[in-house]
Amino acid sequence: MTYFFSLLVVKSTSAERKIMSFNIIGTGSYLPPQIVTNDDLAKTLDTSDEWITQRVGISTRHISVDECAADMGYQAALKALEMAKTQPDEIDLIIAASITGDNICPTVAGTIQKMLGSNAISFDINSACSGFLFALDTAAGFFERGTVKKALVIGSERMSKILDWNDRSTCVIFGDGAGAVVLEVGDGYIASKLSTKGDDDVIKIPTGRNNSPFYKKTMDEGIVFMDGQETFKFAVNTITREISDIANENNISLNDIKYIVPHQANIRIIQYASKRLNIPMEKFSVNIERCGNTSAASIPIALDELCRAKDLQKGSLIVFSAFGGGLSTATTLIKW
Ligand code: UT7
Repeated sequence: MTYFFSLLVVKSTSAERKIMSFNIIGTGSYLPPQIVTNDDLAKTLDTSDEWITQRVGISTRHISVDECAADMGYQAALKALEMAKTQPDEIDLIIAASITGDNICPTVAGTIQKMLGSNAISFDINSACSGFLFALDTAAGFFERGTVKKALVIGSERMSKILDWNDRSTCVIFGDGAGAVVLEVGDGYIASKLSTKGDDDVIKIPTGRNNSPFYKKTMDEGIVFMDGQETFKFAVNTITREISDIANENNISLNDIKYIVPHQANIRIIQYASKRLNIPMEKFSVNIERCGNTSAASIPIALDELCRAKDLQKGSLIVFSAFGGGLSTATTLIKW
C-alpha cells in the first residue's frame, strides 16, 4: 500500500516566525495498579510470553479495573501540576487527547477540569495515537495568540475497554494509562509536523451504539480493528522520514537531538528507526516492555519517565514521534 501525505501535511515553525510558544514546566503520569503479564493473557488466548516479547517487546501492561480515562488523566495532571509548582486555578486551558473517554460530553478534559476545581477552557482532541501531539500543537496556537498563560495537556486512554479480548493480534499490544504536561509561555516549542489520511482500511474503531430504530447493525462495534502488518509498515516509514525531516527543516543535525520520545507501539519499530537514522537506542525513551501501547497516553507517559529519570538540561532538543489511527502522524521538536 502506498501512502500519500503531502496534501495534508501541516507545518508550523514558531522559531522561524519568532512567535511566542510555550515551555514544558511539569510532567506527570499515572498507571492503574493492576498489572497483566503475558502469561496471564496466555491463560485465555492462544499466545505466549515468548511471541509477545519477541514480536512486540511487551512483558506487562497496566489495565484499569474501575478508573476511566478522566480519572487517570486527573491523577497524571496532579503530578504534573506538582512538578510545575502550579495551582489548578492558574491553568487557563485544558486539552485532553483520548479515544476512550466515557462520555461524549462532558469531555475527558471537562471532567478533569471539574475534578481540579478549575475554570479553564477545556476540550478533547481525537487523533488516536498521535492525539497528544495534535493537542500540543493546538495549545501552541493559544500561546501564539496570547490568550493563555498556562495550560495542561493530557493524554489518557483506557484502551482495555475497546479491545476484543479474544483477538490475540490486538489485545496483547495495548495498555491503559495517562500522561500530562503543564505548559507556560516560553520559546521551547520549535516545530511540529502533523498529517492525516482519513482511510479506514488499516485501523478502524467503530463507535458503539445507535439508538435509531431504523439502524441496521452490519459489523462489530466499539472495538479496535487493525491490520498489524500494514500499520507496522506505515509506522516504520513514518518515524524515520518524519524525524529526519523535522531535523532538516529546522537546520539541526540528528546528533543534536538529545532524546527521542517515540510512540510505544512495538519495540521493533523503535529499533528499526534507531538503525535507519543511526541514532543510538539509548537516546530513545522506551517503556513499552512495562506499559504496552497506551495510544495518546504513550508519549506523555514516556516523557514523564524520561524527565524523572534523567537530568534534562535546559536547552536540550527533544523530538516526539507518533503515528497511528486516523491514519495520523505527528512529529514535534521542542527545546527543554
Ligand atoms: O498504536 C497504533 C499503531 N500500531 C502499531 O504500530 C502496530 C504495528 N504492528 C505491529 O506491531 C505488529 O504487526 C503486530 C504486533 C500487531 C503483529 O506482529 P507481526 O509480526 O506483524 O505478526 P503477524 O500479524 O504477521 O502474524 C504472524 C503470525 C500469524 O500466524 P500465522 O498466520 O503465521 O500462522 C498470527 O496469527 O503470528 C500470529 N499471531 C500471534 N501468535 C501468538 C498474531 N498475534 C499473535 C499472538 N500470539 N498474540
